Amino acid sequence: MDKGSFVKDKVVLVTGAGGGIGRDFALALGAEGAKVIVNDLGTSMNGEGRDVARAQTVADEVVAAGGQAVANGDSVADWDGANNMIRQAVETYGRIDCVINNAGILRDRFFFNMSVDEWRAVIDVHLNGPFYISRAAAPHFKAQESGSYIHMVSTSGLIGNLGQANYSAAKLGLAALSKSIAMDMARFNVRSNCIAPFAWSRMIGGIATETDEQKARVARLQKMESSKIAPLAVYLASDAAKDVSGQIFAVRANEIFLMSQMRPIRSMHTAEGWTPQSVAERAMPAMRPSFYKLDRSQDVFDWDPV
Ligand code: NAI
Repeated sequence: MDKGSFVKDKVVLVTGAGGGIGRDFALALGAEGAKVIVNDLGTSMNGEGRDVARAQTVADEVVAAGGQAVANGDSVADWDGANNMIRQAVETYGRIDCVINNAGILRDRFFFNMSVDEWRAVIDVHLNGPFYISRAAAPHFKAQESGSYIHMVSTSGLIGNLGQANYSAAKLGLAALSKSIAMDMARFNVRSNCIAPFAWSRMIGGIATETDEQKARVARLQKMESSKIAPLAVYLASDAAKDVSGQIFAVRANEIFLMSQMRPIRSMHTAEGWTPQSVAERAMPAMRPSFYKLDRSQDVFDWDPV
């Protein structure tokens, strides 16, 4: 495919595209010939407030760069809003080819202090929202026998992180939703994949910079430009990725990773059946060497971004 036409005439909805990673998706998709629905509610990072101008500004940027785009200010956490986004795509451009579930908020808190509202708000945007958007697009994808879903997940969910029980649970749930969609819709030639990004955006911009060690860490994080995530997303939206589905990728600056998925790693069996005592005496000692540590994302990705 020629540069500038990788996703020519594909109609792509990008949620939360008024800034950060989503804005770079919109710009890259527009530059590669897509017609982009730039959705953004325009909230603060913890999901408060609303500003429709944010989506419009990015749509204007895409158009100014020679691309095609319209803005949408609905919330992904609202079933009617999700349907409205898909309707707008179909009414404006005649079809929908790809949705990128990217909108996000954070309500970080240690689990033992997390309120029900903090739990619900994050599950609504990161798990219920992607279900609503994906489900609203499904009849179109099924009827046209094509379509691509891209879901932004996180190593906070795939690996772990402190103080993010709501977010981690939503993101690992989203990875499972993606796999389910990939399986249920394979018969209609529809694909579903995840990207776990690492990017310097307002979402991680609040990291403390008090100590020298923290300052050095933030300087390293700033190398992870949000625009580095876009090439993989544009590829996954395109027909070049027609045989790629059910996968979880990660992108960090110039690195792209294929992430593992859950598989059994050790098994024990007994002819007599297990008792609590034999679990303690035989199963656990055999499995313990393969136990996972309480790793955080940064313990696994423990080298500097390339
Ligand atoms: P960001 O905060 O810069 O952008 C998120 C956008 O989503 C904001 O413009 C916000 O207004 C919008 N939004 C929030 N709630 C919405 C709603 N209900 N409906 C529509 N739009 C809404 O965040 P960033 O860093 O660009 O993140 C994009 C995605 O990537 C998120 O899903 C995030 O969880 C994920 N991610 C980002 C990482 C990073 O290193 N930046 C790491 C792992 C995952």
